[in-house]
Order: sequence, then C-alpha cells, then structure tokens
Amino acid sequence: MLIKSRPSWFLSENDATPESIYKQRRDIVKKLGIAAAAVPFASQTHAGLFDVFSSSNDKVTEQDSRMALEGASSEFSTKGLALTPENKVLTYNNFYEFGTGKGEPAEQAKNFKTTPWTIEITGEVAKPVTLDIADVMKNMEIEERIYRHRCVEAWSMNVPWLGFPLASLLHLVQPTSKAKYVAFETLYDPDQMPGQRGFSSIDYPYVEGLTIAEAMNPLTLMTVGLYGKTLAPQNGAPLRLIVPWKYGFKGIKSIVKIHLLEKQPPTTWNLLAPDEYGFYANVNPNVDHPRWSQASERFIGEGSVFSSVRQETLMFNGYGEQVASLYKNLDLKRNY
Ligand code: MTE
Repeated sequence: MLIKSRPSWFLSENDATPESIYKQRRDIVKKLGIAAAAVPFASQTHAGLFDVFSSSNDKVTEQDSRMALEGASSEFSTKGLALTPENKVLTYNNFYEFGTGKGEPAEQAKNFKTTPWTIEITGEVAKPVTLDIADVMKNMEIEERIYRHRCVEAWSMNVPWLGFPLASLLHLVQPTSKAKYVAFETLYDPDQMPGQRGFSSIDYPYVEGLTIAEAMNPLTLMTVGLYGKTLAPQNGAPLRLIVPWKYGFKGIKSIVKIHLLEKQPPTTWNLLAPDEYGFYANVNPNVDHPRWSQASERFIGEGSVFSSVRQETLMFNGYGEQVASLYKNLDLKRNY
C-alpha cells in the first residue's frame, strides 16, 4: 500500500477532531499496523492477472501507517468537523443484504468472507481487467479523508474514510470516448447474505451508477477503510464507493463489478421507488423527499444515536464548490 506523503497543506488532527478523539487515535495508529498486516499486501501471485499494476515489494511499515492517519487532512478532507465516534459508524448501518435494522449488519456480517475478492472492470475501456483486492490495496495510494456522510433518511455522520480516488482506478483501464456512465455492482451471494435469500422487495444484486464526470471528480472515493483500519464488513468491506455530495445510498458496498457504458445504468433504489429516489441523489435541502423534509438532519455524534441534535442540511452536503459546476445545466428539482 502506498501512502500519500504528508502534503504541505497538512492540517493537524487537532484542528479537525475533538481532543478526546485526537488522543484516542494515537492508539488507532498501532491498531492500523495490525489491521494492515492482516491484509495480504504482499500477494505477488496475482500480479500476473493484469498489467496495469507493476508488482512491487512495498510493505506497509509502521511509519506508513502513521502517515495514513497523520496525513488526515488530504486536500479533499473537510476541515473542522467533529467526528462521529467509531463505535457508531460501526453499529448504525444500512446494508440490506445483512438485514434492514440499523444494528443488524454488524451482527449478521460478522463472518462475511472478503478474501479472496476480485473486482472486474469491463465495458467501454481499452484495458478491461480483473483485479485482486490485495493488489489494489498494495498499489493504490491510500489517503485519509474526513467527509460528511448524509443518508437520504435524514441522519448524518462525519467519517474519516481511507481510500483512493475512483479516477485513479479508471485511468488505469483507460475509458473510451463512449464511456458516459459507470455502473457498480455488489456481491451476490445468498449463502452469505441473508437479505438476498427469500422474499425481498430489492432485486439483488444491489446496483448503483454515476456519470463519468461524477466518477472522475476528485472527491469520489473508492474506500477501503475507516478510522485507520480496513473496512468492517458492515461498512462495505473490502471495497465500497463514497460520493460525499450525494445521499448515502449511492455509496454502494462490497463491490465486485465496475462497468463503463454509454447509457445510464439502473440503480437499486430508483428501481424500487422511482418517485422517491432519483439517479442523481445529490444532497439538496430544497428538494424534499415525498415523505419527509430534507432541510435538516439528525447528526450522529457523541451521545445517543436517537438524540434530537439537528443541524441544517447543506446544498451538495457542503461540497458545492467542488461539484456544483457538474449540474449547471440540470434542473435539480426534476433530476433529484
Ligand atoms: N450498499 C449495499 N450493497 N446495500 C445497501 O443496503 N445501503 C446504502 C449504502 N450502500 C446499502 C449500500 C445506504 S442507504 C447508506 S445510507 C449507506 O450505504 C450506509 O453506509 P454506512 O452503513 O457505512 O453508514
């Protein structure tokens, strides 16, 4: 795993997090070393699968691990945010393949097997590939980004994710000029995912999509960890998408396929309730969900998950400066 070196615009963690969490994170540094070692970074056996990554003998050193955390504020990290405590990010989840209750994914995904794991990238690309997650972890430059995370259900968190820009991955496979959209697919494995067995209103596998411009935006993060550790199953291990200016349901978990195409791909929540969930799903306090307001959100921080601390929802979840130009010719009321 290549860790981005500390940039000149580095913001110390104490600027971004409460002091208690800042101190707590000293311990996480040590844990990351352990978590990182658990991932088969040095698997050279898959290096021949494709030629986009040259094989290397890079190993994650404790120094690298520390960099991942101390370089917390990448250029794209959101400054001055109080983090949602780690235990809440790990226990208050939406991952319907493992149950519809907020606490169910953490329970039911405990034994979810994420190795071996491959990700196929196909469609309108010059170099279609099948990547082993171990090679992805080893070769991509991982950085930590603190992002706002806003669910369409009107709750929100601030999460320190670890990942790399989706654009870096797409550049490797060289999209053709016909690639206008990027489609994503979650693993389909009813043996492991109880929500995929029997009756469900969702037609699995869970699918999502972005326009190519959204996919290439530097904020769009392929995410492999949070709070300095590899992703827990309930958060979408081993690889999920995070698009911070969109509602959380765009952040598809446990990805096995990425397909570039000319036409807009179907997306799970849009298929299920097209009047409620659009393709774009940009966070927008001025466009309500048909059944509730989107003007404010319940921020999950310290204290009870059900506490009524409400805050105003920001247009594009606060990322307008970086993404508003993508939608300058789009009617955001119709294209919700
Ligand atoms: N991905 C899959 N495969 N299945 C899901 O049910 N839920 C989505 C998204 N990704 C979901 C998914 C929703 S509704 C949200 S809000 C986020 O995951 C929640 O991510 P978190 O549990 O890490 O906070």
